[in-house]
Amino acid sequence: MSEGITDFEGRTAFVTGGARGIGLGIARALLRRGVNVAIADISAEALDHAADVLALPQERLRCYRLDVADREQYADVARRVAADLGEVTLLFNNAGVIDSISPARATYDMWDYVLGINLNGVYNGIQTFLPGMLASGRPCHIVNTSSEAGLITGGSGFLYHTSKFAVMGLSEAMRDELDHHDIGVSVLFPGPVATDIVQNTRRIRPAGAPAHSPRVTGILDAAHLHLHRDGADPDGVGEVVLDAVEHNLPYIATRNRSREALARRTEEIVAAMDHAERMLSRLGDAAIKHT
Ligand code: NAI
Repeated sequence: MSEGITDFEGRTAFVTGGARGIGLGIARALLRRGVNVAIADISAEALDHAADVLALPQERLRCYRLDVADREQYADVARRVAADLGEVTLLFNNAGVIDSISPARATYDMWDYVLGINLNGVYNGIQTFLPGMLASGRPCHIVNTSSEAGLITGGSGFLYHTSKFAVMGLSEAMRDELDHHDIGVSVLFPGPVATDIVQNTRRIRPAGAPAHSPRVTGILDAAHLHLHRDGADPDGVGEVVLDAVEHNLPYIATRNRSREALARRTEEIVAAMDHAERMLSRLGDAAIKHT
């Protein structure tokens, strides 16, 4: 198993969705360790704000407007980052949206939109930066942001759950495959974090997206309040993430309150396996008797 990263000073990191919330918390934690940081975000306004509050010289921090779902744009931004800050050896695929459209109102466009950002956006980052990481000859690390909604379903809408379950699977499988290249992969699955993800997503919803039902609108409003009332501090989450990079941990959580739901899900899956074993063995006996 690869060692964690401890030689942060002077490295270059790329953080998507880095202008606000958890991404900004990760960027701050990186900057504290002497990493030069490229922040990429779809919101030009949020990028300007981040650059203002972080107030660092250009050789330490650069901001790039990027839609992670757009592969051509991604390749162009990556070329600029390499020229501005050097080869990226730390990658944080964090940009995400939460749109809890119900299956009854969903469309192919909504599927493409949410999965395009939350899942393809993660893969686009890996596909873009992995060749440079492999060629760099030094240990590298990738953190993909999933969610507790990537472990258990309920309350976040099927598109969000689907995308976050997929990011869990992608991360676990890539970790196994990239370990012998000395590239660590961790998956972050936060519980509530005090960010404006609900409102930020509302602002960039595609024109023509089906309206939410009053029920889903209520769920999203309640989620926004819940995140700000009970959510973890994004800067604290940034530190937890960097600690995991230092120790090359596979999983990064932000709390421990989903244990029962996760255990229940695992038990139900194992029970289905046991049931199938019993049933298939009974059917097998019967099939032999009847031939
Ligand atoms: P946020 O809204 O504060 O930050 C997300 C950033 O991503 C925003 O600045 C937004 O402009 C940017 N973004 C959205 N679409 C983009 C695109 N197509 N290309 C580039 N940038 C884009 O939200 P937050 O909470 O910091 O979310 C970060 C990640 O954490 C997301 O993947 C989210 O699903 C995940 N997460 C958040 C939780 C929370 O409670 N806040 C809980 C679990 C997971």
